[in-house]
Amino acid sequence: MRGIITATAHYVPDKRLTNKDLEKMVDTNDEWITTRTGIKERRILDQDKGASYMANRVAEKLIEKRGISADEIDLIILATATPDMYVPSASALVQNNIKANNCWAFDINAGCSGFIYALITASKFIAAGKEKKIIIIGVEKLSAYVDYEDRNLCVLFGDGAGGVLLEPGEDDQYGIQDYILRTDGKGAQYLNLKAGGSIMPASIATVSNKLHYLYQDGKIVFKFAVKGITDTFLRLIKQNGLIADDIDLFIPHQANYRIISAVGEKIGLPAEKIMVNVQKYGNTSAATIPIAMSEAYDEKRIKKGDKIVLSAFGAGFTWGSVLLNWAK
Ligand code: UT7
Repeated sequence: MRGIITATAHYVPDKRLTNKDLEKMVDTNDEWITTRTGIKERRILDQDKGASYMANRVAEKLIEKRGISADEIDLIILATATPDMYVPSASALVQNNIKANNCWAFDINAGCSGFIYALITASKFIAAGKEKKIIIIGVEKLSAYVDYEDRNLCVLFGDGAGGVLLEPGEDDQYGIQDYILRTDGKGAQYLNLKAGGSIMPASIATVSNKLHYLYQDGKIVFKFAVKGITDTFLRLIKQNGLIADDIDLFIPHQANYRIISAVGEKIGLPAEKIMVNVQKYGNTSAATIPIAMSEAYDEKRIKKGDKIVLSAFGAGFTWGSVLLNWAK
């Protein structure tokens, strides 16, 4: 039994942080940010709200769009590296908020690959037959972990959430067909948030040394991202007897337009088959793919039978690609 996506939704906060705004905060300029990343603006959540606030909105929209009640949800899987708190999980907060009284819920942290990890995890529960309606959400409040005095990082990230409802399909030619997912912990040194975990609990020293902010070696991550996404995309389509031309829409992780276009060239897909919205939201980590998928659906760029590949790369390192045939 394959999982099919029966609803998509996304939520981004209203507040915009533009390149012009950043010019007033750090030594940067619109031209550098645009040519190096493709990003024009990002959304920022209110300081007094947590990631679950955005995930709640997405869960409510999914339930409303599908015309079901929250009590019908069997499982909520939330992909995030920026939960409201370490304990309990953000998914538990969402379960309570939307009053999904008959389900269980857990979080997955796989950095920017979190959504595709969660989607494949959910598809296994669907295949096993017990859970019939699963909410999968990618959500991040990265503004809480970005140093707005560090020009290397603060221009890149934004806040947002996106998600899907996964249900059993009746026809195996639709839904999630195949995937390649990988992890290589050697990448931990290049993309991390050092303090606040069990190895370096919060202290006056960790705060004064700014160790509660994200750290990234951008050049190395860039190289691995292009290679990881290209390799898994090409192997995945090959093992399914497809060529790039057969793919109707490619939805890659939105970190940097240069990564997306470098991958596009290597896999041989024209720009019109690649979903890009990084200019509007920056890098929202686990939320980029479900936000992009939801927008692509709303813009009617996805129709029944379309072959779609989702590809991500992120902290861990984690990466991979998923092949699905759109069912609705
Ligand atoms: O989502 C998880 C995965 N993350 C990614 O996929 C991100 C991957 N990496 C990237 O997207 C890119 O490496 C960055 C956008 C982060 C950086 O682009 P880059 O072309 O690799 O630039 P760079 O780090 O090599 O910096 C080039 C120059 C440096 O100056 P010098 O040393 O050459 O004088 C930086 O100090 O640009 C400078 N710079 C800036 N200048 C103006 C760095 N940030 C800025 C800035 N404004 N915001």
